[in-house]
Amino acid sequence: MTELRASTRAMHPARDSEPVIELTDVRKVYDGGSLEVAALRGIDLLVEPGAYLAIMGPSGSGKSTLMNILGCLDVPTGGTYRLAGEDVGTMDEEELAHIRNRRIGFVFQQFHLLSALPAWRNVELPLIYAGLGRTERRARALAALDHVGLADRADHRPSELSGGQQQRVAVARALVTEPALLLADEPTGNLDSSSTEDVLGLLAELSAAGSTIVLITHEADVAQAAGRIVHIRDGLLEEHREGPE
Ligand SMILES: Nc1ncnc2c1ncn2[C@@H]1O[C@H](COP(=O)(O)OP(=O)(O)OP(=O)(O)O)[C@@H](O)[C@H]1O
Ligand SMILES: [Mg+2]
Repeated sequence: MTELRASTRAMHPARDSEPVIELTDVRKVYDGGSLEVAALRGIDLLVEPGAYLAIMGPSGSGKSTLMNILGCLDVPTGGTYRLAGEDVGTMDEEELAHIRNRRIGFVFQQFHLLSALPAWRNVELPLIYAGLGRTERRARALAALDHVGLADRADHRPSELSGGQQQRVAVARALVTEPALLLADEPTGNLDSSSTEDVLGLLAELSAAGSTIVLITHEADVAQAAGRIVHIRDGLLEEHREGPE
């Protein structure tokens, strides 16, 4: 019995009706000695299963701070964050690492692929951490690559792939654990316009197939791909409104 299965059974099962993300009055104060910075000043956000949300905001508005909290890389200094029904605010480092691996798939601007490893070995990495056996890891990595349209590139190293294809490998790696949430931080920031369309097309397909996606971006064009857009300004969220001022 693999650790992944054992731990899944032990964990509170995610129900489909439960929000994937539930932020209530989330605050983050950085304590820089004499100077405190209130980076998040009371964020409420509900993201339902299957939603595709874009978060936009200017430099210094709190995007990375919010991203770090959503990704369980940091915890709020106030308010509560429930991820797939679990309160992450009270978790220690080890529990946070576990929930990151089990519940969240990350896609970054830099693809963060290991250059010495073929695509499928990059994709299986989260499953090694999760304790799965070799045969199942390979099968699931190949299935994830097939899912992103790269079944025929499984043995290619990152340097033998285009930028868009490398980001697809990163998406496959993010999906291989079947996370509750796909968190994408400027996923098209390093891509030319045709690869950008390629990756946005893939995210749209995943969304249509039921994935829950949160996309953080500077670019209005990219944000338009999402079904819902929120803006963050000075640590506060506001919903995007269409139409004339
Ligand atoms: N570790 C830290 N210590 C102190 N203040 C910080 C820290 N990290 C961020 N801040 C401050 O918190 C606020 C929000 O920063 P954050 O990095 O979340 O912005 P951002 O929206 O990601 O900006 P950018 O688009 O430039 O990446 C800023 O005022 C920033 O100076
Ligand atoms: Mg940032």
